[in-house]
Amino acid sequence: MSKTDRRNYLIGLLPGDGIGRDVVPEACKAVEAAADRFDFSVSWKKFPYGAEHYLKTGEVLPDEALEEMGKCHALLQGAIGDPRVSPGILERGILLKTRFYFDQYVNLRPTLSFPGVPSPLKGGDCVDIAVVRENTEDLYIGLGAASSDGVRMEIGMKRPSYELRGFLNLSVDPVMDMAAQIALATKLGVSRITRYACALARQRGEKEIVLATKSNAVKELYGFWEGIAQEVVSEEGLYLKLINVDALCYQLVKDPSRFGVILCPNLFGDIVSDLLAGIAGGLGLCASANIGDGLSMFEPVHGSAPEIAGTGRANPLAAILSASLMLEHLGEQQASGAVKGAVYMYLRDSSSCELPIELGGSKTTSQVGDAVRSMIEEM
Ligand code: NAD
Ligand code: IPM
Ligand code: MN
Repeated sequence: MSKTDRRNYLIGLLPGDGIGRDVVPEACKAVEAAADRFDFSVSWKKFPYGAEHYLKTGEVLPDEALEEMGKCHALLQGAIGDPRVSPGILERGILLKTRFYFDQYVNLRPTLSFPGVPSPLKGGDCVDIAVVRENTEDLYIGLGAASSDGVRMEIGMKRPSYELRGFLNLSVDPVMDMAAQIALATKLGVSRITRYACALARQRGEKEIVLATKSNAVKELYGFWEGIAQEVVSEEGLYLKLINVDALCYQLVKDPSRFGVILCPNLFGDIVSDLLAGIAGGLGLCASANIGDGLSMFEPVHGSAPEIAGTGRANPLAAILSASLMLEHLGEQQASGAVKGAVYMYLRDSSSCELPIELGGSKTTSQVGDAVRSMIEEM
């Protein structure tokens, strides 16, 4: 299949671990139903990486797999992480490695209120917020080390657009065990994500971008962020509102309806998006897109939820909505709208017992996927 044939898509599938393997097949059902309706075709290329593969072979994610992924039009991912494997090995070795390898610098995380899904908050039922999370830098950059000799820590990282290697030379008295993790921001990193946030705000008809920061305590890093974001937002003719991330969490709980585009450095974006998922009624409803200039990857905000894996309790709507973001990215606007619309109608028209188990109903993962597929077919 040629990569230039826009109506015939090769999609890389990485179900991963835990409920990732339960929800990804439901997202595929929705994509296939939309492809039938809107006259395009999809071929799937499945990648086995995750805990089972690692425990069997010792392999996390080889570079050849990334090259294979690069031949796809997009990647659809489930979730990575398993209690049998020490935290970080798979998450960093598969998920973050993929984000960094393809320089997927945008992590777009829309949070939407859906009809029939109550928020635990008063006034939390009309949320339409887009978290624009910087996805390659900050504390995630991978510059970390532990030391017990008190003298030298070796650090280094590589991105497609730049590379950094060096040492921290220390003099510690008395010598003690210690660890360091360096957060880094570059002008390139902050300006490109801010431009993306500006374009999105404009597309949504909004003039203001809220930047989640913390320059009162972490001055060098987030002061730098604020300066560059301000420059870019002014150039774009929009307004930047700064808010410390602790105060933002408070305001989101008090009145989430007043927020639109929230621009976040990597770590704050991770935390704020789970807070928003709770406000919107469940992690099983929150989709995300990891977007770069090359291959982009689509995945739910949630993790592998190992305690409910294989039980039918996982809500697949986040994965299905991630597939809708993928279709939009591929230029299949009608198909994307149909998938999102089907989720909306399913939630709006279902009695409470027809809802996913996560939302208090009785429908299992595959029953929810079937219901959404039927909606797409019947639209
Ligand atoms: P989690 O998102 O897996 O689960 C948090 C809570 O939400 C749990 O109570 C879980 O049962 C529930 N939940 C999540 N998704 C759900 C869904 N679709 N339907 C119903 N309930 C759902 O977060 P965690 O427990 O912190 O992490 C579990 C593992 O997942 C860890 O290994 C973590 O590193 C990994 N993780 C991976 C990703 C990813 O691959 N993108 C994201 C977050 C966490
Ligand atoms: C997410 C996850 C990942 C992150 C972890 C698993 C590395 O929490 O996608 O939200 O921190 O980005
Ligand atoms: Mn997260």
